[in-house]
Amino acid sequence: MTDLAESLERLRQRFSAQAEAAIDERELDSLRVRYLGRQGEVTQLRRGIGTLPPDQRRDAGKAINDVVAVMEGRLAAASAALQARSFETELASSIDVTFPARKARLGSVHPVRQIIERTCDYFMRHGFAVVLGPEAEPEYYNFDALNIPADHPARENFDSFWLSDGLLLRPHTSPIQVRTMQRYPPPVAIVAPGKCYRRDATDARHLFQFHQVEGLLVAEGIHFGHLKGMLEGLCRELFGRRQKVRFRPSYFPFTEPSAEVDTTCPKCSGAGAPQGTRCGMCGGSGWIELGGAGMVHPNVLREVQYDPETYSGWAFGFGAERLGLALYDVDDIRRFVTSDPDFLVALS
Ligand code: DAH
Repeated sequence: MTDLAESLERLRQRFSAQAEAAIDERELDSLRVRYLGRQGEVTQLRRGIGTLPPDQRRDAGKAINDVVAVMEGRLAAASAALQARSFETELASSIDVTFPARKARLGSVHPVRQIIERTCDYFMRHGFAVVLGPEAEPEYYNFDALNIPADHPARENFDSFWLSDGLLLRPHTSPIQVRTMQRYPPPVAIVAPGKCYRRDATDARHLFQFHQVEGLLVAEGIHFGHLKGMLEGLCRELFGRRQKVRFRPSYFPFTEPSAEVDTTCPKCSGAGAPQGTRCGMCGGSGWIELGGAGMVHPNVLREVQYDPETYSGWAFGFGAERLGLALYDVDDIRRFVTSDPDFLVALS
């Protein structure tokens, strides 16, 4: 090996060790200057080429160039390694991956949905099927088939949102009774939850969009006692064992006899006006109204080709939000629809 080759090899080894040991870019820079700069060691060697015999200069120049290329490669690699390492250190110092994560806040089932699910659950356990129906219905299903002809004053109780083509947003879930009976022969036992719409001014007791749960049982030999038993069972299930249910005579065109169904006010436990202070929940009556019920009118059975001489049945329609007022001790029905997460989570 020539002298030059030997010095180049030593220089390259020394340089490699130092480049590898460099801890920052500044050190790499000073290495670059020390070896490759204008006064650098390699430059000095290059200057020595002129002193060599002419036939050796070419090889000497090439040998130096080769080593310079290797050194530059090393510098670039060392610089890249430093950059990667500094990114990792920065990450490690700013993010503690072992730090416990913040707990995610779980959502909950909406209280009205919970009531609907519990009600359906109760009826399903008794062999009822859950059925749904369309929210936009023709007059026929909303009224005519339910024994409410066009000029019937009961239509006034259903101040409806009318759509085009004779459709309206259903003001109650009772149309589902008709649809079900037209589709299936008796016996039928269904529970039908869903949204309803009425052109009511919104206040603490009214929403223009609300939910009802409808129930229907038609078979041979069904009587009012069956209805009472099932609804008392439902109220006990929802409100507790001590809950009472009261049936007040009422009128609905699609049932005969008809009743309004109340349950003991859970706030005052039925006391109404204890020591002269009127209960804010029930207005002092001691009862909360849940909805209507009755024995299916023979005209309705006839309309769906059921023989009223053979079959009888009961039906009811409860307001889900009404059940919610009583169940959750809520004083304003609008709270169910204002999307206040604290209110909703508290009831879950
Ligand atoms: N559909 C009635 C309403 O919205 C409630 C109702 C009453 C439903 C009696 C029934 C029933 O199924 O039998 O006012």
